[in-house]
Amino acid sequence: MADAQFDLAGAIRTIPDYPKPGVMFRDITTLLADPVAFGETVERLVAPFRDIGADKVAGVEARGFILGGALAHQLSAGFVPIRKRGKLPHETVRVAYSLEYGLDEIEMHRDAVKAGEKVILTDDLIATGGTAEGAVKLLRQLGAEIVAACFVIDLPDLGGRKKLEALGVPVRTLVEFEGD
Ligand code: PRP
Ligand code: MG
Repeated sequence: MADAQFDLAGAIRTIPDYPKPGVMFRDITTLLADPVAFGETVERLVAPFRDIGADKVAGVEARGFILGGALAHQLSAGFVPIRKRGKLPHETVRVAYSLEYGLDEIEMHRDAVKAGEKVILTDDLIATGGTAEGAVKLLRQLGAEIVAACFVIDLPDLGGRKKLEALGVPVRTLVEFEGD
């Protein structure tokens, strides 16, 4: 099914000045609604990870849930939601993080991963890396081994990828938008 020629970037819609002036919003709903583009995205993201024995895929609310479920299924792994504050009913670990445009907190259930489990972190996009860095802190607090983080979109000018790599997390991304 993988088609190296397929133009994934072309399936992503750009909305200028959303949610505030000066931000180029990279909208993956067009990619998700296209079965070929969505399938190709999932195939490319999981390709290097098929044989690493991942126990869990962790996805960050909200857009990371869409990819995370698909990736977990492809890898025969479990899925772990990392949610915005106040959404999880059981005992949680929580971390504050800064976003490209704001501040927030994310949390996960304490029993969502066991110490030593191999986890792949995923989200639709890495910008400043604040969200992903927070997720890495939560997963490591619980003793997870983060074998990789993967994203559809990288905004390299915002430095998130380098931030994660400096934390010792291998990063896989599929599409870069420069100048954001
Ligand atoms: C967006 C995006 C990533 C994050 C990336 O999510 O989906 O999760 O920002 O930014 P960063 O690398 O600077 O942290 P957002 O918090 O806007 O919410 P959503 O996924 O719930 O739409
Ligand atoms: Mg998000």
